[in-house]
Amino acid sequence: MRKPIIAGNWKMNNTASEGVALVKAIAPLVENANCDVVVCVPAIDIPAVSEALKGTNIKLGAENVHFAAKGAYTGEISAAMLLEYGVEYVIIGHSERRQYFAETDETVNKRTLTALNAGLTPIVCIGESLEERETGKTEAVLATQIKEGLKDIEDITKIVIAYEPVWAIGTGKTATAEQANETIAYIRKTVGEMFCPHCAAALRIQYGGSMNAGNCKELMAMPEIDGGLIGGASLKAPDFAAIVNFDK
Ligand code: PGA
Repeated sequence: MRKPIIAGNWKMNNTASEGVALVKAIAPLVENANCDVVVCVPAIDIPAVSEALKGTNIKLGAENVHFAAKGAYTGEISAAMLLEYGVEYVIIGHSERRQYFAETDETVNKRTLTALNAGLTPIVCIGESLEERETGKTEAVLATQIKEGLKDIEDITKIVIAYEPVWAIGTGKTATAEQANETIAYIRKTVGEMFCPHCAAALRIQYGGSMNAGNCKELMAMPEIDGGLIGGASLKAPDFAAIVNFDK
């Protein structure tokens, strides 16, 4: 009942021309995908990649959006700027933004509400650090990120959550499929208590963190996991396509 969604997160990789070459290589490999396919790209790549994606089944995403409609926010990008190029998704609150760019649950919440109002689909990232997992704080950390980051959302089914344990990002260390499934079940339960169980059952929750062509089938076979947010493996067409085609 929940359509899987596989999204690439290019991070600060690929110039616009490299990005165009990559999506041109990916497009024919994923044209028969049964899931939603998204590439989230650096802001400056958006115009060229948007053009290159025309006529494909790949949707365009951004890696961040500012919460204000416009104004004196040097270096930031607004929702209207993204919409003009056909952007449909936006990553919000990635752990790298929380760690290096002072993103907090409060700013995650503001960006998420702004994105929803603009008609963008936020991919809201949450996840615990290694220390938090090892000291038994995973559930408390996630509960706070959910309660603070997702408050005041009218229709929770309009967002996607990406559960990304920080210790699994770019490290080659994946959460086991069981660990990811169990934690995502907890996230769904918490969202159910905060909103409604029925909405939580319809909400798509991705796993992210060293997901690749080799481990995607096992992860995607888990009942709670509705897709993946893919960093490193989204930068090579065959690898990303293999994940998108996990069910083939
Ligand atoms: P990774 O990154 O797949 O390279 O671990 C995932 C992410 O940060 O979204």
